[in-house]
Amino acid sequence: MRIGPPLCFLIFGANALLVVACSGPQSALSPAGEEAERIAQLFWWMTAGALVIWVAVVGISIYTTVGKSGPYSPTAATKVLIIGGGALLPTLILALLLAYGLSLLPQLAAPAPEGSLRIAVSGEQWWWRVSYLQPGEDAATVELANEIHLPVGEPVEFRLESPDVIHSFWIPSLGGKIDMIPGRVTRLALTPTKTGVFRGTCAEYCGTAHALMSFYVVVEEKETFDRWLARQQAPALEPTGSLASRGQTLFLANGCGACHTIRGTPANGVVGPDLTHFGSRLSVGAGILANSPEALLRWIAHTEQVKPGVLMPSFDMLPEEDLEAMTAYLEGLQ
Ligand code: CUA
Repeated sequence: MRIGPPLCFLIFGANALLVVACSGPQSALSPAGEEAERIAQLFWWMTAGALVIWVAVVGISIYTTVGKSGPYSPTAATKVLIIGGGALLPTLILALLLAYGLSLLPQLAAPAPEGSLRIAVSGEQWWWRVSYLQPGEDAATVELANEIHLPVGEPVEFRLESPDVIHSFWIPSLGGKIDMIPGRVTRLALTPTKTGVFRGTCAEYCGTAHALMSFYVVVEEKETFDRWLARQQAPALEPTGSLASRGQTLFLANGCGACHTIRGTPANGVVGPDLTHFGSRLSVGAGILANSPEALLRWIAHTEQVKPGVLMPSFDMLPEEDLEAMTAYLEGLQ
């Protein structure tokens, strides 16, 4: 099939539009961190390099099909097209891009400075265990799930691991992705430069619910972050109102505390996410449902439908009013 010049430009225009549409909270092309800015710059230089090659190839195609008259010269075809266009030009452009890409590596792989905030994140099936670490120690000051808060303008070191399968930790707006490998700790240093809510995701196939394993990253001013961290370190709020109190009783009576911790109550399970301040979180089920009483009730009753493969069983055997009470209790854990 012969693709005419208009179709070439149409395809190029459509691709350009697709790239322009790549903005939002989970895009490497709208960087909000120092490392992401470098990666975005590399992307645009690579795009420019590809554009040069593309324009040359399409230009020659148009010239040979539309503009050229008379016989072809075998010498010109060999020298200009094959040696020049086929070997020298791509080698030169790719070598320049390689050199530029390699020059970024030391900056991207550099550790965070001494004394930086350190956060351990463990990739679980299929959610994220997040622990804020004490300065200089590996003991956690607070544990939560599927949500990370960061102070803007300050470097942070992530210590990444996984108990069973390989995941890949990726916050496109803040930086590059890195694998979480069982039995090993990988480190990633990031410095957010803009406040806002961003989305991270798992970038390595890790099982049934791989595509349903996301998290939110909230970048805020230092004072707001300090207040948030202090609140997270506090034990859970006592339930207010009879519905929430009944919810707490049901939560404990149904054995939820065997898997979940709610600090300040007898619930101290470590299999599933810590729910101490669950009500303050943005999402239910690792970034897949916006946190609301309706979404939480649906999650507890139909986990397997919302996230196929999830380890938590569905609690659809419980009466609706019990589910409502438990939802009221958990949403009250601000
Ligand atoms: Cu975890 Cu894919």
